[in-house]
Amino acid sequence: MSSSTNDTALQIYTTGLRNQHAVENQAIELLSRQVDRLENYPEMEARMRQHIQESQAQAHRLEELLASLDTSHSFLKDAALSLAGNMAAMMHTVAPDEVVKNSFANYAFEHFEIASYKSLLVLADAVGRGSDQSALQQSLGEEEEMAKWIDSHLADTTRRFLQRSAAGVKAGV
Ligand SMILES: [Fe+2]
Repeated sequence: MSSSTNDTALQIYTTGLRNQHAVENQAIELLSRQVDRLENYPEMEARMRQHIQESQAQAHRLEELLASLDTSHSFLKDAALSLAGNMAAMMHTVAPDEVVKNSFANYAFEHFEIASYKSLLVLADAVGRGSDQSALQQSLGEEEEMAKWIDSHLADTTRRFLQRSAAGVKAGV
């Protein structure tokens, strides 16, 4: 690659890391908002609390990758955070069936993160930062596990919501 192509690639990679850092912070915030309302879904609460901790570690990994890049480049000052706001709009915190709708949103959110980390892995390779890949791979694996968990519990969550609705109890959470 020419040096200007290199600069462009590094800029794209760096922006991707910063965006994902914003997404992790958003994930922590959104999950934290949900966990306190899951007293009737204790398994989900426990899994989500685990993923909050994982997301904090993921954010920290991204901070370390960003810190190891040459921050003297002016483009590092750019932060594209609007994306995180869009993700937040997917959450349904007031609907009576919030636990079900939040499952949809969390499932989508995890897949957004999976796609982001897969893309970052390619970019890391393209800019010659193969040493970044194990950190990115670790986070990717955690997102995949979380997505799998949501997927495998969607049927149970829906049934539990139905049972609670039919019993006339506060069904959503
Ligand atoms: Fe994450």
